Amino acid sequence: MKIAMIGTGYVGLVSGACFADFGHDVCCVDRDEAKIAGLEAGRMPIWEPGLEDLVESNVRRGRLTFTTDLARGVDGADAVFIAVGTPARRGDGHADLSYVFAAAAEIAGALTGPAVIVTKSTVPVGTGDAIAKILIDEGAPEGTLVASNPEFLREGAAIADFKHPDRIVVGAEDPRAEAVLREIYRPLFLNKAPILFTGRRTAELIKYAANAFLATKISFINEIADLCEKVGADVQEVSRGIGLDNRIGPKFLHAGPGYGGSCFPKDTLALLRTAEESGVPMRIVNTVVEVNDARKSGMGDRVREAVGGSLQGKKIAVLGLTFKPNTDDMRDAPSLALIDTLKKGGAEIAAFDPVGREQAEPLLPGISFADDSYAAAAGADALVIVTEWDEFRALDLRRIAGAMRGTALVDLRNIYGEDEVVRAGLSYRGIGRAV
Ligand code: UGA
Repeated sequence: MKIAMIGTGYVGLVSGACFADFGHDVCCVDRDEAKIAGLEAGRMPIWEPGLEDLVESNVRRGRLTFTTDLARGVDGADAVFIAVGTPARRGDGHADLSYVFAAAAEIAGALTGPAVIVTKSTVPVGTGDAIAKILIDEGAPEGTLVASNPEFLREGAAIADFKHPDRIVVGAEDPRAEAVLREIYRPLFLNKAPILFTGRRTAELIKYAANAFLATKISFINEIADLCEKVGADVQEVSRGIGLDNRIGPKFLHAGPGYGGSCFPKDTLALLRTAEESGVPMRIVNTVVEVNDARKSGMGDRVREAVGGSLQGKKIAVLGLTFKPNTDDMRDAPSLALIDTLKKGGAEIAAFDPVGREQAEPLLPGISFADDSYAAAAGADALVIVTEWDEFRALDLRRIAGAMRGTALVDLRNIYGEDEVVRAGLSYRGIGRAV
């Protein structure tokens, strides 16, 4: 199959590289010339494990190319995937579809023959219909079809998620579109990944419902964690105890500093807007969003308590700035709200992140950046672990204790046990464990 991928962000670049790896002929299109020039030279615009090698090997085999010229990219394509950004619109929180619609119009004008236009971007219900109309209005060739194929990959595990999905969802109104997508996904299909064919609107909603449900699990367990602290229970054991029930499942039950990233915060808001506009307000999702916002802004208070009630003049070491490990993505990272509270309280902050410094620096003025965990800990009153990078799981706690001037270790991801921390001469405060 010949595939054009419009947009080389997270989803576009990973999907494009993986489709090429399946053996398809893929051209990735982006209007950002610096990004395309970088990709052609083997430089990745994002930090994602395994991506550089995957891109390099498929470029070498001639199956993966990059261009800023959309017309060249879509020429002769069987399928054109739209994977441009749908950020939250300023003001109302709805998904901003201007990039999607602009891409659809440009594709319509550039196609020389019919193709299946597939939205991979997360788009609100009804966007496929709007794209179909744009294609007609802009004179796309007869027989051009529109399908929805939401992507469920996670940052940091993107390639494995793409190649071993729990399911593939294809929303299409025409069997010819289904046939093209079936062929594109054949390698996964043969690996027995279930492929679900639905109507286009249903597929669009599945994506939002999935993210909102996962966000709900997280906010739920975070509230249970707060209760655990008050009643002397342990949230990790509660998670395990409920997660072993197949109806609940063990995943996305890790209590922490609140969910962040480019998807859950934005997609829950967009779902709320769609629901409101449809006259079906979603009270559960609304509360999930409120619980998460409060959670992120409340994390600084835990640190305040751990250093004796006042942050004034305290030195705080923060380990992990990105919204989760194995990514350099700072979008809606819980560290932003945490550091804001710490700074407002008068604390001095030294932070370390294994790969996120470049992205974090412009967002976090007035803090210092250390080259490793031990340098961040030097002279600190408290050490706060915000993400669960492997390298934070294996800290030499005695060395950390020796470097600090205070003794507080605040573990917002529960990657340590109290005993080992206390043995190293530190005090421990985790999440959802009796205080
Ligand atoms: C999420 C979904 O998991 C993907 O399926 C989806 O494709 C993607 O959004 C998207 O819509 O593009 P992602 O945002 O990359 O993926 O990362 P997750 O691993 O889901 O983590 C999201 C946030 O939830 C992070 O801040 C993470 O720390 C937090 N989280 C996750 C928890 O606090 N507890 C958990 O148990 C799991």
